[in-house]
Amino acid sequence: MTEPLKIAGFEIFKAQLTAKEQAAMVADLRAVAQAAPMRHPVTRGGKQMSVKMTSAGRLGWISDRRGYRYEAQHPDGMDWPAVPESLLSLWQNITNLAREPDCCLINFYGENARMGLHQDNDEGDFSFPVVSVSLGDDGLFRVGGVERGGKTQSVWLNSGDVVVMGGDARLAYHGVDRIRFGSSSLLPGNGRINITLRVVADLA
Ligand code: SIN
Ligand code: MN
Repeated sequence: MTEPLKIAGFEIFKAQLTAKEQAAMVADLRAVAQAAPMRHPVTRGGKQMSVKMTSAGRLGWISDRRGYRYEAQHPDGMDWPAVPESLLSLWQNITNLAREPDCCLINFYGENARMGLHQDNDEGDFSFPVVSVSLGDDGLFRVGGVERGGKTQSVWLNSGDVVVMGGDARLAYHGVDRIRFGSSSLLPGNGRINITLRVVADLA
């Protein structure tokens, strides 16, 4: 594996997936979304998020008027589908960990979607990295430090890139300012998919 780019502790592995692997992963994700439909969640404050999301795995990440959390069921009441093999094997190659992720969160960004700066801190154990995979249109990823309001840097993520948020970057602020709609031909209707693999461990 080639050495990653390192930006503020985030490890960025460029072009980890071939075009064929990306297309196969999209097919796997479509099957997940068919079993567990994507939704635009609302925040505790009642604001609709611009991304659509669903999950696979033992636990799924959700947001609603009660706040952010992991749940064992989709809001419609069914279990989350299993994490696709393509993502489990990527997790294994990248992390070399025996422990599998509990959650595979799938975010879809349409033309005007974005994600504000935030920390991934709803998990019960921060010793495991979060592994993020980008598919489809380019996304402008912004990374900062562990303090809110600190200095940030931006980097474009392209289809097939993998980011590891571990060590000092595990609790670092990050977000997506915008996508370059139509920059990739992977998804027929354009847009960007981001997948994050997370070990949630025991819930409080
Ligand atoms: C996230 O922080 O959940 C998504 C990051 C991304 O879309 O690259
Ligand atoms: Mn995040």
